[in-house]
Amino acid sequence: MIRITKTATCINRFAAAALIGGLLSGGNSQTAQARTPEELQQIATEVVGDLAKTCPHIPGKLNDADAFKACAAKLAQIKSLPFAPAILWGGDQAQLRVRDRNLTRFRPDVFRDTYMPMLAFTGKFTLARDDRENMDIIRAEAYFRNDLPAGDYPYPFWHSDAKWSAYETMNTMSFYLDNSGRIVVVTRGNTGSEQARGTYGHVARPAFVKDRWVWQDASGGTQPQVMLFASRYRSNNPSLPRLDVAYRAFADNMREASCVSCHAPNNSQGAKKLILLQTPLHAAGEIDWVIQSVDSKKMPEDEKGLQAEIDPKLREAILRTARAFRDELRAADAWEARQRRTDVQGGSALAGRDPGQSGQSR
Ligand code: HEC
Repeated sequence: MIRITKTATCINRFAAAALIGGLLSGGNSQTAQARTPEELQQIATEVVGDLAKTCPHIPGKLNDADAFKACAAKLAQIKSLPFAPAILWGGDQAQLRVRDRNLTRFRPDVFRDTYMPMLAFTGKFTLARDDRENMDIIRAEAYFRNDLPAGDYPYPFWHSDAKWSAYETMNTMSFYLDNSGRIVVVTRGNTGSEQARGTYGHVARPAFVKDRWVWQDASGGTQPQVMLFASRYRSNNPSLPRLDVAYRAFADNMREASCVSCHAPNNSQGAKKLILLQTPLHAAGEIDWVIQSVDSKKMPEDEKGLQAEIDPKLREAILRTARAFRDELRAADAWEARQRRTDVQGGSALAGRDPGQSGQSR
């Protein structure tokens, strides 16, 4: 059962970072509650408080282009989200055990930079505990920006009316903490309060063209732009041209092996833990797992879930291009990290990924 333990608004800031650090080095007990209600309160105050500063909800400005841009740029720099190395994301499905829920797996930085900016946070939260999973839950009040340009969403959620409606009406983002204080599951729900949202209006989206997860806009640009390398890296990142070439080679091989026929948002195989590979940044977040699963011959599989026979030459080509893509990603990330350090030394800690420099309009 999930029980609500406390309500609070974020006003005070505690030295919760130190606390999270302490918990991380703490025990891994399977049974006991890992932290006292006061400790959880402090962590939540820190996390949700920072989210509200980074991506504040200002009624009437939910779909403001500059607010969205600023939120994305600052989220990429946020320090107070103690994510585990991989996280699961999806609808609450609170009645189900986590292992039975339909969720999508992400590398947390990809999720933080491309999914979280769709939300604006009020700073309010409630706390709960899922005793079955032995996890504490921070339910942050958050409203979804439902009237952004199509390419600001990681994929057209309106491929399903139910999915789009679930996103449009969401008012909570829940963070599940494991015993080590790490965020392992993030869910969306619409059972929270509507009070602070402002006026809500459903946005009707153009009909989704089957399987068109990547498309060209009216001016010939590739969309969704938030999932392109240009949204993650500065335009002067020297790896960008090579990264693009490496991704294309890898994507061609994935196409030949039909990877995306299963690893796309329509989840044709009904996987409980979906892996998305249909855009550059989705693929980037999964690249280490891709290499592992293709190398071990776990992937590709067939519709029955059995190992699929593929030409050994194709397997070899997938692995070779996947590794080349991974190496370019590492180089691009390393360059970006060096730039950020320079920015910090130059006194502008938030300059990191400045969307103004990424050479694209949102
Ligand atoms: C016929 C459908 C299908 C095809 C084709 C397919 N996969 Fe999968 N893949 C799945 C399913 C189902 C899972 C398991 C998801 C789950 O845990 O429920 C999976 C899991 C994975 C995982 C996660 C493995 C792990 O343990 O971390 C990766 C990575 C992956 N696939 C990559 C690929 C790549 C790359 C290709 C193409 C070479 C491919 N898949 C082709 C259906 C498919």
